[in-house]
This record gives sequence, C-alpha cells and structure tokens, in this order.
Amino acid sequence: MSEAEQLTQEELEGRVQTYIDAQANLDLLRFITCGSVDDGKSTLIGRMLYEAQLVFEDQVASLQQDSKRVGTQGGDIDFALLVDGLSAEREQGITIDVAYRFFATDHRKFIVADTPGHEQYTRNMVTGASTADVAVILVDAEHGVLTQTRRHSFITSLLGIRNVVLAVNKMDLVDYSETRYNEIVTDYQEFAKALKFKNITAIPLSALKGDNVIERSAHTHWYSGPTLLGFLETVDVSSFDTSLPFRFPVQWVNRPNSDFRGFSGTVVAGAVEVGDDVRILPSGENAKVQDIVLYHDQLPRAQAEQAVTLVLDREVDVSRGDVIVSAESPCEVSDQFDASLVWMDQEQGYIGRSYWLMLGTTRINATISDIKYRYNINTLEQLSSREFDLNDIGRVTLSFDQPVPFESYDDCKALGSFVLIDRYTHATVGAGMINYALRRAQNIHRHAHNVDKAARAKLNGHKGKVLWFTGLSGSGKSTVANAVEQALFAKGIRTFTLDGDNVRHGLNQDLGFTDADRVENIRRIAEVAKLMVEAGMVVLTAFISPFRSERDMARALFEEDEFVEIYLDVPLETAEERDPKGLYKKARRGEIPNFTGIDSPYEAPRQAELSLSTGDLTLEECVAQVVELMEQQ
Ligand code: ADX
Repeated sequence: MSEAEQLTQEELEGRVQTYIDAQANLDLLRFITCGSVDDGKSTLIGRMLYEAQLVFEDQVASLQQDSKRVGTQGGDIDFALLVDGLSAEREQGITIDVAYRFFATDHRKFIVADTPGHEQYTRNMVTGASTADVAVILVDAEHGVLTQTRRHSFITSLLGIRNVVLAVNKMDLVDYSETRYNEIVTDYQEFAKALKFKNITAIPLSALKGDNVIERSAHTHWYSGPTLLGFLETVDVSSFDTSLPFRFPVQWVNRPNSDFRGFSGTVVAGAVEVGDDVRILPSGENAKVQDIVLYHDQLPRAQAEQAVTLVLDREVDVSRGDVIVSAESPCEVSDQFDASLVWMDQEQGYIGRSYWLMLGTTRINATISDIKYRYNINTLEQLSSREFDLNDIGRVTLSFDQPVPFESYDDCKALGSFVLIDRYTHATVGAGMINYALRRAQNIHRHAHNVDKAARAKLNGHKGKVLWFTGLSGSGKSTVANAVEQALFAKGIRTFTLDGDNVRHGLNQDLGFTDADRVENIRRIAEVAKLMVEAGMVVLTAFISPFRSERDMARALFEEDEFVEIYLDVPLETAEERDPKGLYKKARRGEIPNFTGIDSPYEAPRQAELSLSTGDLTLEECVAQVVELMEQQ
C-alpha cells in the first residue's frame, strides 16, 4: 500500500494545502536566455524542465519518438524538441518566436523567455528581455563571443537587466578545457566593461550532457562556482520598489452609468491610498482619491503591479493616455527627448521621418529629429549616421507633437520605454528608452505677433496655400507648376515656386538622393513652405517627394484647406520616353544610382486632391483644372 492510501482524507488535504501554500510563497524569477543559432538555448531549457521533473510521462514518450524521427542527437533524447514547439522551427532548426515557460523548484518559481537567436529577430529578444530580472547569455565554447553575443548583451544592459550569466556551453566539445573557458570569460568581461551590469556570473556547462546545469560536473573540477539552476535559485533580485512616487497611466475611463466615473489601469510605480492628493498629467489638474475599486471591493490602498479603478473626489477631465501621479512628487512633462533606440525593421529609419509612438497607454506622433550616433556593436564605437538599419542600436533626439508625462527609463520602466510604429504598415519598427527630456524645448517659446496670417490674408486679398506637386522625374511638375504660377500671378495672387533642381543648388546642396537625404530634403521644403504660407503666399512646390510618409508629414504642418496635393500621374515609360534631361538614360546605364522609378521607389498618392495624367492632357487643360480647384476652394 502506498503512503497516500494510509493517510486519512484530512491528513491528505492538509499536506496538499501545505504544498500549495509553500508554492504560493515562493518568489518568482523571470529570466531570459539569449544566444546565436545553435548555441543550445532550447536544449538548455529543455534539460532544466526535464531534470526539474516537470515533463509529463506522455511528453517523455513522444519526446523519445520525436528524437528518433527528427532529433539531432542520433536517437538520444533531443531536449530542444521539448521547447521548440513550432514546426517551422524544427524544420529550419531555428527558434522564431518568444516562448515563455513556467517551472518551479523547492526554492523558487521561474518564468523563462526563450528568445530567438537569428540575427533578424532582435524584436523578440527585446520583448523577452523587457520583463526579465536575469539574462542567461549563451556562448558556444567552440565559437566564443560573437557579434550576436555582444548585441544581445548590449540590449540586455539597455533594458536595465543588471544580473547576467555568461553560460559557456558545449564544454564537452572543447574537452572541458579551463584555458578555453578562461579565454572566453576574459574576452566577454573586456567587452562588458562598457555596459551597465552589476554582476556577471560565468558558468562552464554542457546543456547536452548536463554538466553544471543542475548537477555539478565531474569534468570541471577546476570550477568552484554555482551550477546554473543553483545560481538562478539564489540570485538576489530586488522586487518592485513601492517607495517610488505613485504613477498610474489611465487605460480607460470606466463609466458604466451616470452615477459612476472611474479611471482604470495598472499602478506602474509606488502606491496610492484613499484620501491621497493626486495630479492628472499633462493637464496638471489636482484631485483627491475618493475610492479605489477592484471589481465589487473597495480597497484602502493599491500598489505597483495592481490593476484597479480610481474614483476621484471631483469632476476632472481625464482620458486614456493621461497619467495620474502623486501631487507631491509629480513626474515631468515634455515633448523633446534624448533616447536610446533599437531598430527592428527591415526598412530603414530616417532622421525627419514621423512615426506613431506608444508610451505608457498613450499614442502620439513622434519624429526622429536627430540621430546622434549609432554603435558599432563590436567595438561600441559611436558612428555618425543619418539612418538606422535592422538591428542597429543608437542614440536619438525625438520630438513629439504634444507634451507627455514621462520618466527616464532608469527611474521607471513603464513610463520611460516606448515603441515606434510605422503609420502605414502598423509594424513595430523600433523600441527605445527615454534617457532625459531636452530642456531646449522648455526654453523656446513661440512669440505671438500682432500682424498675423489673417491680417496678411486681408491685405493680400487671398489666403496662403501650398500646391504640392508630386510625381516621377519627367512627369511635368516644373512645367505645370510654372504655367499655374503664371496664371495665378496674372490674377494678382502672390506666388512663389520652390523647385527641386533649384533648391538643391542652395539650401539643400548638402543633400543627395539616398532615402535618408530625400526625407530631409522634403522636411526642409515643407518647413520653408510653411513659413511662406504664414507670410501669405501661394507656394507651389515641385519635388518628386517619392515617399507617402513625408508628403503626409508636410500635409500635417498645414491647416486642412491650406494643403493641396497634386499628383502628376504618368507611367514610368512615358516619363522615360520624355527624358528631358537625359537622366533616365544615364540611370539605365548605371551612372546614376538610386534613380526614382529605376532603382529607388515612388509611392503614388492615395488621397491627392487632384490627379493629372499629363500624358493625356494638354498643358492648358492641366492649368485649367488646378485653377478651377482653387476657385472652388
Ligand atoms: S526628391 O526625391 O528629394 O523629392 P527632388 O525633386 O528634390 O527629389 O530632385 C529631383 C531632381 O533631381 C530630378 O528631377 C532630377 O533632375 C535630379 N536627380 C538627380 N539624381 C536623381 C536621382 N537619383 N533620382 C531622382 N532624381 C534625380
């Protein structure tokens, strides 16, 4: 008879309860494993799950079968199969998404984020690392420290992880050589000096053979440090600090009926009690906390990580994206920042381009107004650059179109981290951390002048406006703009034409035709046009302006009826036949790189106020259509 059957029902329940209580009281460690493809991450996690007896019998049976069929260990158990859930990964032999695993020992509960090693999946690594307390960085003992190791370590450091394990894996393949191990550790420590780690613990191991993962290895008598699991079970990581001032980004305004109005969200720092004075940012209004509600319960207090609804003692204007903070120590509000940025998109990121930015629960428009530098990831040298490529890490200036409450990332992760999103594809293109707000934004104030736009319009007898001509080289932008200007001028309208070829001789003579330079070209033109419209002119711009993103950026600078986008719509063949400057021929011969339509893209407008097929219309017809549209407006 087994022991369980001898126990009374009561005793059994008691034991179960003791076990549940013990588990509930264990603290939780979140860690992330990172490494290059084939460094053995999945094998390592699989081994930990297996040896911690967390694998069910039926899983073991299917694991044995799978190992024979698709395993890479010659019929022995392939632990990686336990972890690599996705079939696509099995076939390609790489991990392609963040997989979170839960397990527990008698000392601690663990959540491990297994993140992809493939160069292009920095995105997943950032996702996995953003909540981790410890990073286990795997290095293959045969290959040593690679670029990828450095990149992962750098991101780990940027994201604020201070405890790192340098897991020197596959020691069995180097005959458990102490010399080789020391070489790798020294190499890594040299690089990591520049990073912000508090503590680097190096461990020689073999995930495949089980050396120093859970059991001490007989092969590494020269090593006296902890095993990997031993380290993870005991490493000291401070939990949430509730001594920080109270911060509560509002997720939604909870208004089930006219008697109740509360603000729901999660406390991201500090704590709040009923009766506390709070401030709503960015508006700056003050109120007192009247109730803290959780479902049907009223709480006296809520602290970091708790999701609650706050009811305030007076009617204040609060909406999603606002942050409720301690009135005694509120956070700052700004619209210009110095930030660190990790670029995660295939498409490059440019100075001057505008993106959506998610910070806390708010979404705003943000522009990368400067790239201070990007890093050479191997040497940590700072390189000057106008664009970001996939996986680049650097330092930028960001400008928002409105002030937002924030904290530096080091003070509060939740209010100091953000993601950048492409406005068109909605892909997450970057992730970043706020270092500090730029004071210059606070010290520059707009002056209100007495002679304003309205006064000038009255004097001129017409309002200012931009006619933004866009289209391929040779589509007729300059020709049509020139003829339209003549027609308007004849009617007594004050006009000015900004033309690509002309402006590039002066203001923009430092710019070429890379994507980054075109973005900057259009940004400057849009700003100049804005000044001229302010001055009361009708401005005609004739630039290829190939990217939707910058044309929309230009549009956003103006009032609705001030911006008229005119698309000169001709097929590439027609423009190429015309070839007024002989440039298409040169481009076809390979003499002009990045030529629009040949090896540089043109994104046709989707919402132009007017499209003109200059291939089918006469010049007079084109002019008539533009003038008619203006008269209608
Ligand atoms: S834009 O793309 O940045 O808007 P912009 O309108 O200023 O271009 O300049 C385009 C003009 O520059 C063309 O009409 C052509 O005369 C000349 N040019 C020289 N090199 C290129 C190139 N690589 N691509 C397009 N236009 C070029």
